Amino acid sequence: MKVLGIESSCDETAAAVVDVDKSILSNVVSSQIQNHERYGGVVPEIAARAHMDQIQFITQKALDDAKVTLSDIDGIAATCGPGLIGGVIVGMMAGKTIACMADKPFIGINHLEGHVLSPRLSDNIEFPYLVLLVSGAHTQILIAHNLGHYELLGTTLDDAVGECFDKVGRMLGLPFPGGKHVAELAAQCKDITAAEKQFSLPRPMVGRDGCDFSFSGLKTAVLRYVTDNMSQDDKIMLAAAMEKAVAEIMNNRVKNAISIFNQRYGNNGDKKPYLVTGGGVAANQTIKDHLVRLTKEHNLIFTAPPPVLCTDNAAMIAWAGIERLKKGWVDSLDVKARPRWPLENLKRE
Ligand code: KG4
Ligand code: ZN
Repeated sequence: MKVLGIESSCDETAAAVVDVDKSILSNVVSSQIQNHERYGGVVPEIAARAHMDQIQFITQKALDDAKVTLSDIDGIAATCGPGLIGGVIVGMMAGKTIACMADKPFIGINHLEGHVLSPRLSDNIEFPYLVLLVSGAHTQILIAHNLGHYELLGTTLDDAVGECFDKVGRMLGLPFPGGKHVAELAAQCKDITAAEKQFSLPRPMVGRDGCDFSFSGLKTAVLRYVTDNMSQDDKIMLAAAMEKAVAEIMNNRVKNAISIFNQRYGNNGDKKPYLVTGGGVAANQTIKDHLVRLTKEHNLIFTAPPPVLCTDNAAMIAWAGIERLKKGWVDSLDVKARPRWPLENLKRE
């Protein structure tokens, strides 16, 4: 069983072909980041137009790279939300058109479900598992109980964690998106204790019950330290202090999620549960190092899909399509594009 996946919910136009045996036959991603760089953020109108320009070429390339034609494909899966609605409509309509033209089933995918299921594509992870979804748009901890049955344990009350990295990057004069550049600066810090002493930063929500996040206070605290003629050394120290604060916030919130997970499913030692991460921020080494330590202490296994499957891509959408198609969960062509689409209640049957 092979599915063609299409993703266009943010600033990546992507298409991929994935087989039921988990082989990724093609995975084409075209980033529009250069179109948005000068604005310091993704501009929805520009994104939608760029998706229009790219979608046909990228989809054809995914089929060509996989060395298949539409007759070899068993279903078309496209992101139908959540995301920037103009872009979502472009990819979704392309998917529906191909499905209609080739007389194949159409599967409308929730982009977040794509991220949640991607570790089942890269590793053999079984339900239930804990998920930390950290991107430019989302900061969520959830339990994946079963296909389509996801329980949100916590989310951000204000900025997403990637957004916080990007805003700090902008304050420090780094290119957009700033997350990777902030991490590169922070990696040059040789004395994290001194950095934290020089730049004392808050850890919003830490110590509170539940799994929610808040990053706007941290962002504002960083801003207070930024000056016009800041030295490179100070930028390095501030980036490192900020990154450490984020990693500690993450660990504190995930620790509470582990307790909730253990109450539901137990953790008796012989079958260790998984914590999986997804989203662009999951590439951050400091955050990963902290999570590795935390999960070890609590008898969990930490895993993150490879970076190409962590950031936005269509292989994860094709895979979500395969999981749904196997259950016969296909959609009619009047399924809607949704700018907001919570992960709860995606279960059929
Ligand atoms: O999942 P993604 O590619 O796109 C969505 O937002 O959906 O995530 C992009 C986000 C951006 O905010 C980017 O700055 C952040 O991930 N990011 C990082 C790192 N690499 C990418 N943040 C922190 N450290 C990194 N190494
Ligand atoms: Zn995403």
